[in-house]
Amino acid sequence: MMIAQENPCIFLVGFMGAGKTSVGQALARLLDFDFFDLDRLIEARAEKTVAQIFSELGEPEFRRLEREAILLCRDLKRAVIALGGGAYVAEENRSAVRALGKTVWLDCPLDVCLRRIRGDKARPLLGDHDQMTMLLAQRRESYKKADYAIESDKLTPEELARKIMSLLRR
Ligand code: S3P
Repeated sequence: MMIAQENPCIFLVGFMGAGKTSVGQALARLLDFDFFDLDRLIEARAEKTVAQIFSELGEPEFRRLEREAILLCRDLKRAVIALGGGAYVAEENRSAVRALGKTVWLDCPLDVCLRRIRGDKARPLLGDHDQMTMLLAQRRESYKKADYAIESDKLTPEELARKIMSLLRR
């Protein structure tokens, strides 16, 4: 397939709860690629959970570790990588990711995201509805810079994976 030869990695971007992990796993299965969740790579390297990194070391340190983990993706081939919701915000990260492959924004309505992640203690940035509205508003401009955008609330992860595959083949 074209994408596999030209651009070995596919990065999924989007807000918390948009489905990056489940769609990423389905897409990797479909393409016979490896799947990685950037937050899990960060946790493995730091030997701490994302929640611990935020509470013990602070968000700036989390962002630094996130930046490092993105750079390490250059060693991956034929991989689908789910980025954390804030990873595609810094231009530095966007250009690093762009150099490694294609990006797909899973565009999901805020209320659907919030329903999925309600009460999740593993997501330190989860706040009230107004805070989340503001955070998504701040981030949309960054997400829009992805190579492709796909609405992710009405289809199953498998259906979305198939749609993404056809987008990438175009
Ligand atoms: C974050 C999203 C999280 C995780 C961290 C920060 C964010 O990932 O990276 O809690 O800034 O939106 P998910 O998008 O997988 O929840």
